[in-house]
Amino acid sequence: MFPPRPTELLHLLLKSEIAAGDFVIDATAGNGHDTAFLAKVAGETGKVLAIDVQAQAIESTAARLESEGLRDRVKLHHGCHTNLADFAGGKSPTAIIFNLGYLPGGDHGVITRTENTLQALEAASEILRPAGILAVICYPGHDGGGEEAAAVEDFIASLATHRTARYGMLAAEKPAPFLLLSRKSG
Ligand SMILES: C[S@@+](CC[C@H](N)C(=O)[O-])C[C@H]1O[C@@H](n2cnc3c(N)ncnc32)[C@H](O)[C@@H]1O
Repeated sequence: MFPPRPTELLHLLLKSEIAAGDFVIDATAGNGHDTAFLAKVAGETGKVLAIDVQAQAIESTAARLESEGLRDRVKLHHGCHTNLADFAGGKSPTAIIFNLGYLPGGDHGVITRTENTLQALEAASEILRPAGILAVICYPGHDGGGEEAAAVEDFIASLATHRTARYGMLAAEKPAPFLLLSRKSG
């Protein structure tokens, strides 16, 4: 699609930033589209950590990875992304992505929550390797999403060690999703 949606743009831009063998994190695995993308670009020698708070999402992601022959490259964690530093076990990732909101096809009442999201983003910024990338797709169009998106934007903008850009569609009927793309200083 042109112009690309935030997720498409993220994949396009991340492709050239992640090298084969890298360690990367998907902090909201969902249905596994982003996790599968990361597993492909990190390659056979790469490692992906994918986290989701819902068992349904972990199962959906595992099934996608199996069907695409990518399961061996990914460690799945059923839990909250506020614990991502523990899950990463002291390793520093090249990139961490958050695709906020609810699980498509799942319970739309289970959404990422501002307080958890900010705590997880703080941890993510800390463990990222120098010059690593933090990417967040925000969905201000659903209940609670606008407050979360604004808080995330303010939080990332306040990170002195990061340089951040914001990309989104114009003139949508309801607030459109947008991508925050941020590089930690090297
Ligand atoms: C928009 S979906 C993610 C889409 C996914 N990246 C994909 O490619 O299909 C958002 C996900 O965040 C998850 N989530 C919500 N709160 C969470 C938390 N505290 N920790 C980890 N995952 C969470 C939801 O369960 C949901 O699956």
